[in-house]
Amino acid sequence: MSTQNFDSSPRPSSQSIDTSPSQWPLGVEGVVYGCDYNPEQWTPDVWREDARLMAEAGVNLVSLGMFSWANIEPRRGEYNFEWLDEVIDVLHEAGIRVDLATPTAAPPAWFFREFPEARVIDRSLTPLGPGSRGMACPASPAYRQACLDITRKLAERYGDHPALALWHVHNEYGLPVNESFSQDAQEAFRRWTKDRYGTLDEVNRAWGTAFWGQTFGVWEDILPPMPSPSVINPSLELDWRRFSSDLILECYIAERDLLREFTPDIPITTNFHSCPYVDQWRWAQEVDVVATDHYLTAAEPRNFVELAQTADLTRSVAANHPWMLMEHSTSGVNWQPRNIAKQPLEMARNSLSHLGRGADAIMFFQWRASLKGAEKYHSAMLPHGGTDTRIWRETHKLGNDLVSYADVRGSQVQAEVAVLLDWNSQWAQDLEWRPSVDLSHRVQTNRWYERLWRDHVTCDFAHPESDLSKYKLVVAPASYLLSDAAAANLNAYVEAGGNLVVGPFSGVVDDNDGVRPDGLNAALADLLGVKVQEFCPLRIEDSADLNYTSVSGESATLVADVWCEDLIVRDAEVLGEYLTGPRPTQAAVTRRTSGSGSAWYIASDLSVGDLQPVFADVYRQARIELSDLPQDVEVVLRTNSKGEKFATVINHSERQHQLTIPGTDCRIEIGAGESTVLKV
Ligand code: GLA
Repeated sequence: MSTQNFDSSPRPSSQSIDTSPSQWPLGVEGVVYGCDYNPEQWTPDVWREDARLMAEAGVNLVSLGMFSWANIEPRRGEYNFEWLDEVIDVLHEAGIRVDLATPTAAPPAWFFREFPEARVIDRSLTPLGPGSRGMACPASPAYRQACLDITRKLAERYGDHPALALWHVHNEYGLPVNESFSQDAQEAFRRWTKDRYGTLDEVNRAWGTAFWGQTFGVWEDILPPMPSPSVINPSLELDWRRFSSDLILECYIAERDLLREFTPDIPITTNFHSCPYVDQWRWAQEVDVVATDHYLTAAEPRNFVELAQTADLTRSVAANHPWMLMEHSTSGVNWQPRNIAKQPLEMARNSLSHLGRGADAIMFFQWRASLKGAEKYHSAMLPHGGTDTRIWRETHKLGNDLVSYADVRGSQVQAEVAVLLDWNSQWAQDLEWRPSVDLSHRVQTNRWYERLWRDHVTCDFAHPESDLSKYKLVVAPASYLLSDAAAANLNAYVEAGGNLVVGPFSGVVDDNDGVRPDGLNAALADLLGVKVQEFCPLRIEDSADLNYTSVSGESATLVADVWCEDLIVRDAEVLGEYLTGPRPTQAAVTRRTSGSGSAWYIASDLSVGDLQPVFADVYRQARIELSDLPQDVEVVLRTNSKGEKFATVINHSERQHQLTIPGTDCRIEIGAGESTVLKV
């Protein structure tokens, strides 16, 4: 299969996301409740028992076949569908609908035996063998052909099965394979680069190859970022990330288009996840319904904040259409260093937090706990201990509770605040040889999100080039890479009366990781009224105090412990200035007002706690009304087309609270650890 038709043009902004109603698994009533099911592990009598228990627990959708390739096609061209026919029929008879996967995330042993050249070649140029799971090289013609062959067989066999509700292409594109350095991939990268830049001169200009004598003389000189004596050209690395996301996306699109030929009415998705190598703004435009997987970071006691962040991000890439939580866990996972079991009630809190933030499907990996294989210690809906267990009782209760929340389906979250996020910026900021390894895109973004979360401010995520006009406030925690179009968009937003807060190390480079000729933050300098003359990262043991005086005159001492900047203030008020550190007395936090709009700059990394007084000022400026909800109680509202509101209330704290749902007169009492959904 040719790899020549890459779309390597600059990615479309989220402005162009189709906002027509997204599709939904066919024929599923109410909120979707379900799981991954890996029936190959079990005998037919277990399938029957499983279907009975699934129905009892309220399961209405099952994802099937993700890893079934070897069972469906045990030898090349030889198919065995009888077992899968029976599984699907058993589920169908139990009233459970099927989300049927293409099994291309786990090619069989025969495939690697017959096509050893299709193996993924990793960054150290080591070929990756079979014995685990993960796609073959996404640029391999043999792999792509085999994927289409098995996809066609599935579509022919099951396209008109009455249980079929949704196609699930592959599993978690980007994990564990997000790049390959095979000959096929190298050639594809050259083609992608040619498509994007047209001429070698343009590539040399875009990547700044004049430095370190890297100028390319012929297209064959262009190689992926392979082992080399020193750091690779960062512009090339950034384009390699874009190329790799596009390459894998091309595999998805090929399978999707084939399925669509057979079953134009069956929606198609693939499950996103936390892998940073997939540009979800771009990918979301190619699925009929957005689905994601989420697993808690066990080492983080307040991991429910990151869960909320992922849910808000997923809703945002879904353009606020209902989305599917395709996988999460009933309790511990099996692949973190310490797989902490969930506390009683925690699974329900997790599930309802996703629901409250727009998920109309709550699903788990996996149905029945495995006895063998790599994931046998991963929790399941039906644990090793069977039905006389806490996990089963909570699973059963959740399924039945979701039935009573059926009316929530289709309602939407409305946010007044947006957090800017662009995968390109993350890829660029996290490359090597930056001013400080301690300033991380992810940490900056997480901290600013957590500030909003703690202040009970519901937010969307937005691409920096998207239409921001509906937001009273836009925060940009980590916008290291900002395209010219994005910078113009932010200017226009503030000029039109919007309020923007920008974090440190922002507006630094253009689309090609190049510093602009007129300064380190040239893209934002006029908007912020501040010019960065130098970055001043701190030693690991150092910190810098800064004095912040709020707009209403209160003072607070805040601490930067990673990062300071040396600013020239041209046209802004100074609200915070350093007391200590590399640039004492210089500006650290500024505000420029422009008409009714404002542009704030926080030129230091600040902790979640230290962001509080600054954000309090910002909320006042943006006329964001804060609620007086108790600490660690999460309340999110969804509204349907009739104007009916549903409040999800989650008490993460260890004590009971009485509270009023913001914007309503509804008072409720919620016990420690409890969660619920109410019509308000
Ligand atoms: C991922 C995969 C699943 C399973 C889970 C749990 O999300 O998609 O197949 O491996 O992790 O580990």
